[in-house]
Amino acid sequence: MSILVTGGAGYIGSHTCVQLLNAGYDVIVVDNLINSCEESLTRVKELTGKDLKFYMTSLLDSRNIEAIFANESIDAVIHFAGLKAVGESVYQPLEYYHNNITGTLVLLDAMRKSSCRNIVFSSSATVYGEPEFVPITEKCPLKPPTNPYGRTKAMLEQILTDLHTSDPAWNIMLLRYFNPIGAHESGRIGEDPRGIPNNLLPYITQVAVGRLISLGVFGNDYDTPDGTCIRDYIHVVDLANGHLKALDRMMTDSPAVRVYNLGTGTGYSVLDVISAFEKANGLKINYVIKDRRPGDIPVCYADPSKARDELGWTAERNIEDMCRDAWNWQKNNPEGYGDR
Ligand code: NAD
Ligand code: WQD
Repeated sequence: MSILVTGGAGYIGSHTCVQLLNAGYDVIVVDNLINSCEESLTRVKELTGKDLKFYMTSLLDSRNIEAIFANESIDAVIHFAGLKAVGESVYQPLEYYHNNITGTLVLLDAMRKSSCRNIVFSSSATVYGEPEFVPITEKCPLKPPTNPYGRTKAMLEQILTDLHTSDPAWNIMLLRYFNPIGAHESGRIGEDPRGIPNNLLPYITQVAVGRLISLGVFGNDYDTPDGTCIRDYIHVVDLANGHLKALDRMMTDSPAVRVYNLGTGTGYSVLDVISAFEKANGLKINYVIKDRRPGDIPVCYADPSKARDELGWTAERNIEDMCRDAWNWQKNNPEGYGDR
């Protein structure tokens, strides 16, 4: 079976390509490398001993995308490609809406023209906003996201649902990720953010490796046991495996729109993560308490039982595994892939 992976050179995409190739799928990657580099794909091939096809193009280039669907026989698409920096999206809304929304519309139109109607979409827990209850089930009401990035996810979930309504042959998986961290256990592929990291784990690993002086902890006066925010951190390899389970289910069941939370079900505070990282790796992380970061939600963690019951998927790796693998990647690749 042949899977087109958009954004396959990126963080989650590259880990998913490894799992797909290891499971015997043929993989075709489309990526314009706006937030990644081809070296990740070289390492995916090295790790798996298998080849994949790579088209370096933007999804916005409809001629290229249609040509790929015309030339290849594609059974399903896993759609990771998109811009994802929350803060940047506030300052560059047009770029975010154009890239994420128009890019997806071009992809869906090319899929429709070639009669490929199976798609797994990268959504996010951000669609729950400040959740009405925790742990968050898929029935938790969706709240308007607080930034353009989050709105692209909510809009794309709606667009995909409308598409299924218009043509029930569309088979759609909406996967709502919680907080992916960690790296492949080999330390060959991992997260390589451009500039100063926005997310917690890459910030911690860059402090550990000496690229940054100290971590700012955004607020310790939340209504949580230690005052810092709680999140559901999930190992990126577990997350990648969730996509394979979703694909299995999608390709063997009748077309529908299906929604799953991909998280572990356990929440950790920022201070818990710092301690787990220190313990797993025998290191000390310098940190200082700072003001709250605007827009942060105090507590967010999943009820992942629907994915367990319907997909047969559960996260297997714990917070120590995540911290160990994140550090193994960073210490072996202090400058990431070294392309920037
Ligand atoms: P990433 O930036 O590492 O990967 C995204 C990839 O898409 C990059 O390789 C980038 O070059 C590519 N891309 C972007 N726009 C493109 C375009 N127009 N045409 C072709 N390629 C394009 O991000 P990631 O962390 O791997 O995230 C993958 C997906 O998962 C994204 O859609 C993201 O919004 C979503 N997501 C991520 C997280 C997270 O915390 N990492 C959480 C929830 C959802
Ligand atoms: C985690 C916790 C911070 C950095 C974001 C997006 C979300 C999703 C995943 C895609 C929070 C604290 C962080 C730092 C800190 N992406 N923190 N110091 O905010 O849960 O989610 O990424 O869909 O949409 O909003 O993840 O890693 O930024 O933060 O104290 O330098 O770490 O306040 O409590 P977040 P994060």
